[in-house]
Amino acid sequence: MNSIDKLFLENKAWANERRKDDPSYFKRLSEIQTPEFLWIGCSDSRVPANEITGTDPGEIFVHRNIANMVVHTDLNLLSVLGYAVHHLKVQHVIVCGHYGCGGVKAAVTQHNFGIINKWLRNIKDVKRLHQSEIEQLPTDEQQLNRLVELNVEEQVIHLAKTSIIQKAWQYHHRPSLHGWVYNLEDGLLKKIKEIQPNDVIDDLYCYDNL
Ligand code: CO
Repeated sequence: MNSIDKLFLENKAWANERRKDDPSYFKRLSEIQTPEFLWIGCSDSRVPANEITGTDPGEIFVHRNIANMVVHTDLNLLSVLGYAVHHLKVQHVIVCGHYGCGGVKAAVTQHNFGIINKWLRNIKDVKRLHQSEIEQLPTDEQQLNRLVELNVEEQVIHLAKTSIIQKAWQYHHRPSLHGWVYNLEDGLLKKIKEIQPNDVIDDLYCYDNL
């Protein structure tokens, strides 16, 4: 059996299993989705949002890209964020990075990755912003791990800079913003950063007339 056929076979088995546990499972899910969380994670195949949080389909709205970035010109991310916040009315937005992130590793090299350079530039900017702190760490691994954490922190701050989040804070006092890092070696999540609705952010990024 080829690998694609195997996916279809597994899909059939999974659907049967779900129906056996709960005959109305698919009918219920097909009618409405009311997730409480938006997950912005890395595309890395080892960090699946639902599995590592023990959640089911319908519980987390998911966006993933290389190195879990919140780039203010990324129409894809902004569309997902706007839909999740204004229509699905999520209570929490989670940015989840992970140690050993290939995107972060690539960004600290001088290697030319072609079109990916433009994406990795955003991570290089995070490194430059925190260069003095990172340099103080003795090993390359520690420096990379800290950059993974700082990158998550910056992306959470980027969320707070969007008019989408500021508007939701002003009118609905939600969502909370969370920055986490996942450890591939033990499967555990670590809290890095949290911003609550209407926490103070830099004036320069605050909009009026929201
Ligand atoms: Co990654």
